[in-house]
Amino acid sequence: MEILQSAVLPAQVDADLLVLLAAGPTPVLELDSALGGRLGRLIGSEELKTDRGQSLLLHLAGEITAPRLIVVGIGAGVDVDAEALRTAGAEAARAGAGVGGTIAFALDPSLPLGLADQAAALAEGIVLATFDSARWKSRKQESRPFTRLLLLGGNDAAVAAAGRSTTIAGWVNTARLLVAAPPNEFTPAAVADEARGIAERLADVSVAVLEPDELAAQGFGGIAAVGGAAANGPRLVTLHYRPQAAKTGIRLGLVGKAVTFDSGGYFLKPSASIGVEKADMAGGAAVLAALGAIAELRLPLEVIAVIPAAENALGAGAYRPGDILTMASGRTVEISNPDAEGRLLLADALTHVQRLGATHLVDVATLTGAVIQALGDYYAGVFANDDSWRDAIIAAGETSGDRAWPLPLDPRYRSMVESQLADLRNSPAGSTRAVLLYSAYFIREFAGDGPWAHIDIAGMRLLTEARGYYRPGPTGYGVRLLVELATRLSGA
Ligand code: BES
Ligand code: MN
Ligand code: ZN
Repeated sequence: MEILQSAVLPAQVDADLLVLLAAGPTPVLELDSALGGRLGRLIGSEELKTDRGQSLLLHLAGEITAPRLIVVGIGAGVDVDAEALRTAGAEAARAGAGVGGTIAFALDPSLPLGLADQAAALAEGIVLATFDSARWKSRKQESRPFTRLLLLGGNDAAVAAAGRSTTIAGWVNTARLLVAAPPNEFTPAAVADEARGIAERLADVSVAVLEPDELAAQGFGGIAAVGGAAANGPRLVTLHYRPQAAKTGIRLGLVGKAVTFDSGGYFLKPSASIGVEKADMAGGAAVLAALGAIAELRLPLEVIAVIPAAENALGAGAYRPGDILTMASGRTVEISNPDAEGRLLLADALTHVQRLGATHLVDVATLTGAVIQALGDYYAGVFANDDSWRDAIIAAGETSGDRAWPLPLDPRYRSMVESQLADLRNSPAGSTRAVLLYSAYFIREFAGDGPWAHIDIAGMRLLTEARGYYRPGPTGYGVRLLVELATRLSGA
């Protein structure tokens, strides 16, 4: 989608579709005299509502240059934020689906958001709304996406901001498609292929893949055990983005859990919940896509993305409750629950990313049902061993739209992860108290002494109902947060 700006008045714009943002009834009326008072009458009769996400499409007969007008509500007053404009962009794109060509938005300098922020949010909403998971249907529906976005009353900064968010949202959609992909197709080997594709397409990105025999030989006991029963063997996938002009003294290490199907192993999951466990690779998808976005935006920051990929299957090679594993770090873990597999993958991947020289770590994982109980699908949960690093994650989440809420990592919980036989136990014995915190405590043991944060996205990976710019299904949560974090760290 090409992005342009123009100072032409909305009534005179040459576009296939003109979009007006309505923050309360007043601004809409500016165009209304050209339309013979039609908008005012529609508002009066409540056929046109200006609440967030409401919209009305009008066909015009020459009263203004554009043949179609969509009025999109964005709420009013302090409620008008980036989320409102992302939703408006998505709503306009959906209401105008099938139109194609040029979509023009009239930016509004009276809103509490700057023009560049408005442009970024609208473009993001448009791209997120084009996400289509009908890829596996044999009969395709024809779509006519907009090829040009025209920002009325914009400036160069607005065009640049919209370009950036278009790129990021495209990668969010990539992550969503990977989460939607079926587990017979998106196997650990396919995760590696996806990473190879990214390294081929983008400059300064290299890829390395460890195969099942190499994982076992090099002591990645966690990944080898979790992936041990599946015909689709495990992989440890590393993408390294090393730009010429990278900021010195900092190397961002991203780790994403990619369990391509989580059966629960010997603690087999009930049939009611096992079907959605193909989405247990959402963290890995977010990390892959975030690295792709960071490299495509050419951020001046070195970033290492590590994705441990495995299928937690039940079969002859399955790891057992009672097994004691030796992890890549050399520490031993007693398996008390083979369904607590994600933390074993993260542990080995965190060791790996530190060996590669990462200074600041973030892991993203669909780790616990407990975080869904705690925060639902509004916030991911964030744990960190460093308060300012945790604050940086939360702030990047708030700005980007991927919201996250802090959870405690207090030394008094440390005793929960102790085992009688080994160094650690992978799940709390017997107790169901604080299981959410337990997972973070376990991972912390493998995160080293530098800044590390763990984001539990189990609740955010899919939405069951439409909300704002999302439809039910994968959200791509984490891509926007990680790219915003990298942008801030790079100083760009
Ligand atoms: N992948 C699941 C967590 C999950 C559950 C994600 C539901 C999304 C929806 C994870 O591997 C798991 O099974 N976690 C266990 C941990 C427990 C055994 C300590 C859980 O949450 O029940
Ligand atoms: Mn599990
Ligand atoms: Zn899992």
